[in-house]
Amino acid sequence: MAAPAVVIDCDPGHDDFLAILLAQRFADLRGITTVAGNTSVANTTRNACIAAGMCGFRGPVVAGAAGPLLGEPQFAEHVHGASGLDGPELPAVTRSANEGEASSFLIDACGPETWLIATGPLTNVALAIRRDPGFAARLAGISVMGGSTSYGNITPTAEFNIWADPEAASIVFNSGARLRMVGLNVTHTVLVDWPFVQRVRELDTPPARFAGDLLAAFVTAYSKMSRQPGFAPIHDPCALLWITHPGLFGSVPARVDIELAGAFTRGMTVVDLREAADITAANADVAMSADSARVLDLLYETVSAL
Ligand code: RIB
Ligand code: CA
Repeated sequence: MAAPAVVIDCDPGHDDFLAILLAQRFADLRGITTVAGNTSVANTTRNACIAAGMCGFRGPVVAGAAGPLLGEPQFAEHVHGASGLDGPELPAVTRSANEGEASSFLIDACGPETWLIATGPLTNVALAIRRDPGFAARLAGISVMGGSTSYGNITPTAEFNIWADPEAASIVFNSGARLRMVGLNVTHTVLVDWPFVQRVRELDTPPARFAGDLLAAFVTAYSKMSRQPGFAPIHDPCALLWITHPGLFGSVPARVDIELAGAFTRGMTVVDLREAADITAANADVAMSADSARVLDLLYETVSAL
């Protein structure tokens, strides 16, 4: 089967970085667009260029939104650090971003065969939908790392990517696009641990040493926030691998709404999983399970091949 054509819209970010490496190995990666989220868009763009250089992706990297549709950007530097890739020493940037702006690039690059993999706040995607009313229906679909059918992370009810720009998420989830949503309820079952970090490091190549340091920083950051230290969920690779290896994920169709007004729930994905739910109202396939061992195998294989 031919590798699926994908464009990644991301906010690297440790796990976004890994998703880019996986996309270059398993997909037909047509472009990378960047958005503010884990850190500033200047940093996410630089970090995407580093990832592109590390995996040999020579296609377009195009910068996008510096903040949400409403309000000011709020970064996740408590997880990813001031650089967005804290932990390893960052290598020299061997390429720069391309001219242009992300939403325009998405409109031009995402055709009927293209899956858009969204692993950051959905600002660029929402802007593309607003600018081109035919965009949502034209592309093959949008695979979103975001939301949750259960608890949040940045708040008790909201996951960071949705919370960082809930208005954008609402536009995307009401756009009519074919949507796949992989949220924390699944990504928190796909965990890297210290033995995995050590296995990667033992590959003992420059990319593997970098990836090992990246993973070590991620596990360390999550260990400080978690009742279950020693693990880190690799969120963003799940959104990509669901498209390249669909058999690794189980899902159900469901209606997903984005809470915009709740004092305690703004940014929450309200997923209707009731037995009696009207399935014809579903606007997304919502991931409910993952073959986490296989996901980790694919990540290890990807790093070992760099
Ligand atoms: O909540 C996890 C998501 O927020 C991931 O995409 C991570 O990179 C951050 O962007
Ligand atoms: Ca991300």
